[in-house]
Amino acid sequence: MSDIQQLVYASRATFQSADNGGGVEPEVARILMQSRRNNPRRGLVGALYYGDGCFFQCLEGPQAEIDTLYGQLMKDARHRDLKVLRRQFITGTSFAGWSMKYVPAASDVQTLLALHGKERFDPYAFDNELLDAMVTLLHHRAEEGLNPMPPAAGRARAGTPVPAVQPAPAPRRSLGVRLAWVAAAIVVVALAVLALR
Ligand SMILES: Cc1cc2nc3c(=O)[nH]c(=O)nc-3n(C[C@H](O)[C@H](O)[C@H](O)COP(=O)(O)O)c2cc1C
Repeated sequence: MSDIQQLVYASRATFQSADNGGGVEPEVARILMQSRRNNPRRGLVGALYYGDGCFFQCLEGPQAEIDTLYGQLMKDARHRDLKVLRRQFITGTSFAGWSMKYVPAASDVQTLLALHGKERFDPYAFDNELLDAMVTLLHHRAEEGLNPMPPAAGRARAGTPVPAVQPAPAPRRSLGVRLAWVAAAIVVVALAVLALR
């Protein structure tokens, strides 16, 4: 059986939302920095949504690492009322390349909530259908782009999603080699002209 688990939980932020014109909350930005620093070496990937004072996080990776992180999360004073909404084994992750995708309170989440007759983001009241739809939305948003912070070289573990690698530029030929090709071409043309006379 696969050792890869998916953990989805909800929690309430304990900090006051900063009035920063709709940008990323400073506290959320710090959480993302920590996640993107730590998760690659733990083989963890996932996505974090923050809206209406609630967190909704989907974590995927080795069971033992999920357990360890969840233990730390329960002690983190930046949120409270942690509630596991789903925990299950999965065959593979859909967050490949994302150590922690951030999904801000965006219009597609508002649309999803409206479709389910909800005015606010309250993950504690999600039924299975809304939970599925929210996780699918996070997966789709993660597929839209690649991780801006790939794991440190040499620290990725087996089974860790590998970030996109830039194709290596084609090696440039040296001037000498290029001149040799030009000379060879001239000789070939000269021989052809001689042969035709
Ligand atoms: C909502 C929320 C989500 C978090 N997600 C992660 C995470 O995915 N990975 C992580 O390492 N820390 C995460 N943290 C932070 C951890 O609780 C903990 O502070 C951190 O792992 C400690 O890392 P450090 O020892 O490198 O400072 C999260 C915290 C909160 C409040």
